[in-house]
Amino acid sequence: MPLRLTIAIDGPAGSGKSTVARRVAAMLGYVYLDSGAMYRAVALKALERKVPLENEDQLEILARETHIELKPPAPEQEAAGMTNRVFLDGREVTREIRTDEVAQAASRLATIGSVRHVLVAEQQKAGAGGGIVMEGRDIGTVVFPNAELKIFLEASAVTRAQRRWMEHQEKGEKVTVAKVMEEVRERDKRDRERKVSPLVRAKDAVLVDNTAMGIEETARLIVLLAREREKTSA
Ligand code: DC
Repeated sequence: MPLRLTIAIDGPAGSGKSTVARRVAAMLGYVYLDSGAMYRAVALKALERKVPLENEDQLEILARETHIELKPPAPEQEAAGMTNRVFLDGREVTREIRTDEVAQAASRLATIGSVRHVLVAEQQKAGAGGGIVMEGRDIGTVVFPNAELKIFLEASAVTRAQRRWMEHQEKGEKVTVAKVMEEVRERDKRDRERKVSPLVRAKDAVLVDNTAMGIEETARLIVLLAREREKTSA
C-alpha cells in the first residue's frame, strides 16, 4: 500500500490552482481542499454582517464562531467547473463566495494573523492523515511545512487575467480584461506583501509555470511527481 501523501499547491490568483488541484486529487483518489474558499466564506459573513474589515478583534471572533464545510461537487456540478461545494454555518454559499467583492474582502481579511490562526488550525485538522491535495497561498510554508510534495504554481500576469476574464464571460458578466488585470494585480500585491504568511515559494517547492500548459497537462505533471514521491517516501 503506497503512502498517502500530503500535497501542497500554492500560487497566485488565476494560476489554475483550484482546477489543477481538484484534478490531481481525482487522479490520485485523494481528498481536495480549497483553503481560499474558507477565507472567502468568512469574508462573505463579514460583509453580510457589516463587520468592518479593519476590525481585527471582531473578525477573529467571527472566524471562531463560523462553521465552514467543504464538500465534493456532484459529477454534473464538477463537469460544469465546480471544484468544492462550500457551506457557511450550514447554508450553501458556493456561488456567493465567487464574486470580486468577496475575493477582495478575503484578501484583506487574510492579512490578519488571528483570523489565519483559526483557519490554519481547521486546515491542519482536515489534512491530518494525508491523502490530501490542499491549495492556497501558505500551504507549503505554514499549514503543512512537512508536506511530501509542494508545488508552486505560476503563470504570467496576462495569462492569469485572461483566465479570470474567461470565467466572467462564462458567467455572463461584462467586464474588461484591463479591469480584471487590475483586480488580479491588486490582490497579488496584497497576498505577496502582507506581513503574516505571505504568498512565497517554499524553498523545497517545485516551481511549475503553466503559462503555456493546459489544466490536464499540469495535473499530469504533478501526478507524475506524486507517484515518484509515493515510492521514495514509503
Ligand atoms: O484562492 P482564492 O483566490 O480563492 O483565495 C482568496 C483569498 O484568500 C486570497 O486573495 C488570499 C486568501 N488566501 C490566503 O491568504 N491563504 C490561503 N491559504 C488561501 C487564500
